[in-house]
Amino acid sequence: MQSASTGVRGVKLFNEYSSMRAAWCRFAPLGFLGASLGLAACAGKGTGLDANGRPLGSGGGVGGAITADFQSIQDNVFTPVCTVCHAGAGAPQGLRLDAANSFNLLVNVPSTEVPSLVRIRPGDPDNSYLIQKIEGHASVGAQMPFGGPPLAADVIAAIRQWVSDGAQPATAQAAPAVFKVLSTAPATDDLLIGSLPQVMLAFNQEVDAASVDQQSLRLERVAATGEAGSSELVLAKLSLPAPNPHALLLTPLSPLQPGHYRVLAHTAPGLELADINSRPLTLNSSGVGDDPVILEFDVAGDQ
Ligand code: HEC
Repeated sequence: MQSASTGVRGVKLFNEYSSMRAAWCRFAPLGFLGASLGLAACAGKGTGLDANGRPLGSGGGVGGAITADFQSIQDNVFTPVCTVCHAGAGAPQGLRLDAANSFNLLVNVPSTEVPSLVRIRPGDPDNSYLIQKIEGHASVGAQMPFGGPPLAADVIAAIRQWVSDGAQPATAQAAPAVFKVLSTAPATDDLLIGSLPQVMLAFNQEVDAASVDQQSLRLERVAATGEAGSSELVLAKLSLPAPNPHALLLTPLSPLQPGHYRVLAHTAPGLELADINSRPLTLNSSGVGDDPVILEFDVAGDQ
């Protein structure tokens, strides 16, 4: 007899595989401390740091290309160096540093390791946890990049400067036609192992803060059997990580138990999310009752 939960996980084999790979990448460097083997094995594309701790890449490993703006930091550091580990459902501490998610998971978002500090505090590099992690004096864990050579001084200086200058996002594109969700962390159908600090939704437009209240979104745990009507509301705090008006964070009040989860938008008039141009959120997903599902994911127990 197959248990119901085996059935749920059976259809998620691909996701399990990718999380396992990420989990392996997360821990591999522990086994190869001091050797670059762990990093190289996970990188896949062979990108990383040169012997001086400068990101390899378009510049052929020659430093000096990085400037103190978000796009440059993403392209020269986060994407080539950090996403070796910080990507996908198994990203360490839930921190995804790929281009779609990094800004929204950094600026004014509490660190998982030291929740009293935010990962990036605009204008205050000393109290930005990411800066402490790349400089190697954070109170928890290792210097980043984990197991590799530290970033070069001029690279760290550029990231510090970006924070001092207010940690602005990459320059915005022209106003899009509809208001919609651009990316989420976790992503739909992710299988998360262990804890989940928060759910992040990133939008293509600035969210109208006045349209946000505790009812705008809700997090539900769906019983593994998938029986109709067997979902339960999970208490979570909804917040806007000012000054990033493109993102919303949903922080569960207590750690999520293993199970299948979904995030729904309320569509009742007066409760729906709107952008600064007063356009309601466009969602073309199927719904539960009248409320569209924004994303679904699974949480597995610690292994
Ligand atoms: C080889 C894998 C690996 C790479 C590459 C890596 N990290 Fe990490 N990162 C980890 C692990 C594992 C942890 C948790 C353990 C620890 O902190 O030592 C972590 C934790 C963090 C945290 C703490 C998150 C929080 O919310 O508390 C930050 C910030 C961070 N990394 C930033 C970076 C940055 C920036 C880069 C690129 C310059 C990077 N990491 C590269 C594996 C990696």
